[in-house]
Amino acid sequence: GKVRAPTHIISTISDDRGEEPCYAGVPMSSIVEQGYGVGDVISLLWFKRSLPRYCTHFIEICIMLCADHGPCVSGAHNTIVTARAGKDLVSSLVSGLLTIGPRFGGAIDDAARYFKDAYDRGLTPYEFVESMKKKGIRVPGIGHRIKRGDNRDKRVELLQQFARTHFPSVKYMEYAVQVETYTLSKANNLVLNVDGAIGSLFLDLLAGSGMFTKQEIDEIVEIGYLNGLFVLARSIGLIGHTFDQKRLKQPLYRHPWEDVLYTK
Ligand code: ACO
Ligand code: LMR
Repeated sequence: GKVRAPTHIISTISDDRGEEPCYAGVPMSSIVEQGYGVGDVISLLWFKRSLPRYCTHFIEICIMLCADHGPCVSGAHNTIVTARAGKDLVSSLVSGLLTIGPRFGGAIDDAARYFKDAYDRGLTPYEFVESMKKKGIRVPGIGHRIKRGDNRDKRVELLQQFARTHFPSVKYMEYAVQVETYTLSKANNLVLNVDGAIGSLFLDLLAGSGMFTKQEIDEIVEIGYLNGLFVLARSIGLIGHTFDQKRLKQPLYRHPWEDVLYTK
């Protein structure tokens, strides 16, 4: 029989060997001719399948809404300081990206994990939030530095509006909203944030689209694909902040002494 030389790498998402590169089997020419967008490309390269238009549109809305949130947030701040230290584009970009994590922008996967687990186990919002409190874990997807119950995050509202109109079911999102109602009764800053909105809505997208098996959904949530949406989106803004600082010829940043509490 045939002897197959062992390979050192296995890859399943793209292939550049033929006449034209393919993403998950779809040739580049079809991507262009059929007017695919970045949401379709993400579907092919991350999920290895074409998703319905409302799903790819939702992905694109997430990317657009999370592209930037001003110069004061952790990521942009790091990028600005790095660009002003004379570093190149890639260094400035990754310096900002490195702040994405459990407190800033990188709570989407954990929000999806905890909301899914709590909803699937039938926990009431009260039982869920109080059990997290007992474990000493902040509820991922809840809380914001500047957003409040009386000053909601517009991004969250826009995502919810889109999903209510286009998704077949928004059960995980409705659960997250009930959790928010409970946390807001405890403190006014404990709103459903953009990470929590995307985390819960992506569960609805995965479960409601009929494009994923239960096992595939569990794998996506377990591996943690969803922070990738924020990383990808915010890269757009961080690149913009780098160019902005260079264009403005900003000097080396030094933090003012007056803003530091020097103490023993
Ligand atoms: N769950 C439960 N209680 C909370 C939460 C939460 N998610 N967030 C804040 N609290 C409560 C706690 O009692 C906290 O006291 P503690 O410090 O003793 O735990 C109290 O509110 C005050 O919290 P602060 O630290 O003042 O809140 P801060 O404004 O610094 O935090 C943050 C904002 C980091 C977003 C926080 O709410 C949090 O950790 N949330 C979970 C992670 C998350 O979703 N991050 C994504 C934010 S959106 C984005 O970055 C794009
Ligand atoms: C963001 O998108 O960067 C934020 O929601 C974080 C913030 O503090 O505004």
